[in-house]
Amino acid sequence: MVAVDIDAKIPNNVDLAGDRRLQRALEGWQPKFIRWWEELGPVAFQRNPVFLRTAIDVGRQGWANFDHVEMPDYRWGIFLAEQEQDRTIAFGDHKGEDVWQEVPGEYRADLQRLIVVQGDTEPASVEQQRHLCLTAPSLYDLRNLFQVNVEEGRHLWAMVYLLHRYFGRAGRDEADEMLERHSGDADNPRILGAFNEETPDWLSFFMFTYFTDRDGKYQLASLRESAFDPLSRTCDFMLKEEAHHMFVGATGVGRVVQRTLELMAEHDTDDVHPHGGINLDVIQKYLNFHYSVSLDLFGAETSTNAANYFAAGLKGRFQEERRDDDHVLKDSTRLVPEATADGIGSREVTQLAALNETLREDYTEDCRKGLDRWNRTIAEAGSDVGLTLPHIGFNRNVGTFRDHHVSPDGRIVDEATWADNVDAWLPSEDDRAHVISLQARVTEPGKMAGWLGAPAQGINRKPVDYDYVRL
Ligand SMILES: [Fe+2]
Ligand SMILES: [Fe+2]
Repeated sequence: MVAVDIDAKIPNNVDLAGDRRLQRALEGWQPKFIRWWEELGPVAFQRNPVFLRTAIDVGRQGWANFDHVEMPDYRWGIFLAEQEQDRTIAFGDHKGEDVWQEVPGEYRADLQRLIVVQGDTEPASVEQQRHLCLTAPSLYDLRNLFQVNVEEGRHLWAMVYLLHRYFGRAGRDEADEMLERHSGDADNPRILGAFNEETPDWLSFFMFTYFTDRDGKYQLASLRESAFDPLSRTCDFMLKEEAHHMFVGATGVGRVVQRTLELMAEHDTDDVHPHGGINLDVIQKYLNFHYSVSLDLFGAETSTNAANYFAAGLKGRFQEERRDDDHVLKDSTRLVPEATADGIGSREVTQLAALNETLREDYTEDCRKGLDRWNRTIAEAGSDVGLTLPHIGFNRNVGTFRDHHVSPDGRIVDEATWADNVDAWLPSEDDRAHVISLQARVTEPGKMAGWLGAPAQGINRKPVDYDYVRL
């Protein structure tokens, strides 16, 4: 395997030094990336040392290094997981053939599109979260935010490497456009809707990292199955970093719940708003919002594009090789939901046509695990109302549910019923105003904002009151 060149201008394990043209092209993109980071990355703390994890290798042990660094000096590198010898294509029309080390001409456009759509989400989330540092509820959380941000930056590098290395001039143009589209920009927005919404507060940030980064996990996991081996190896390594982002979400929401329960017990009330907390029903509404917009990211229930990507071997299912079927999916069928004026039913389609729905179901299963943990905390505190995932048709803008209003418990409701209840189902203006009113920067090491519980432990075996960001 290729050695890691950690001291190069662009740290990498892809032998950049052995391809001068590519190296020059990427070194030409690097200052544009840094300029983008300084302009559209975190709005403050750019010159404060932050205790960050940096990818330095891909081996099983010690793939990362922890140290205080100023963010613009972060060593964004290009790392592909180790190449699996004799890997063959696991699914689709080319099943059993050798994987590809170069892009087949017939799939060039589709592969480029998949990489661009994935790549675009990475800098988008950095832009969405750029103001959050001003209201970080602790130094520990501030550090976690920056960790997520720099790694999303590295994920952009991962996709830009593929575009430069394998897609020629068109790929280089796409790489530049990654820095030209901006989240929420009216004229040149990010590609996917959910990545054009601002992340206005830390409850939203925790929900985003729990639900929307988890969509990322499922997209990356299905691209890891790709017959295009460099894409597969890139995604494999990105998933290691992604796990921490979802940890931030899962523990973040868990700590909000924990603090709310403490305040409920202390003041003997369900309404902790006067006491500086966030009521459980408001947490539920934020959850409803972030879960439903993340479901939209998987696309419509049936999709010709998804079927074509699968048949071609470009994008598989989650854990494709662990599945016990023919991996071609043309003859087997499944049910997908169908909403009509009469109610929510289902229709039978080929497995191949229903791949978006299959991935969405796997995702939902995974989402449920966090809720189970939060609900155990709630039950232990003696409360009998837990958090629930709303029905998959709730608040959807893509697919069969888009023209219907569906209640969280899965009933099709008319416009008037929706309007009467929407403030009980999704965060209302007042809810958002309350959550925003609680946002205040806390910078004393180990101290937490009043609406948020302390984490069980620190990062990389450091104590919770470590100076994660040096002010
Ligand atoms: Fe990412
Ligand atoms: Fe992420």
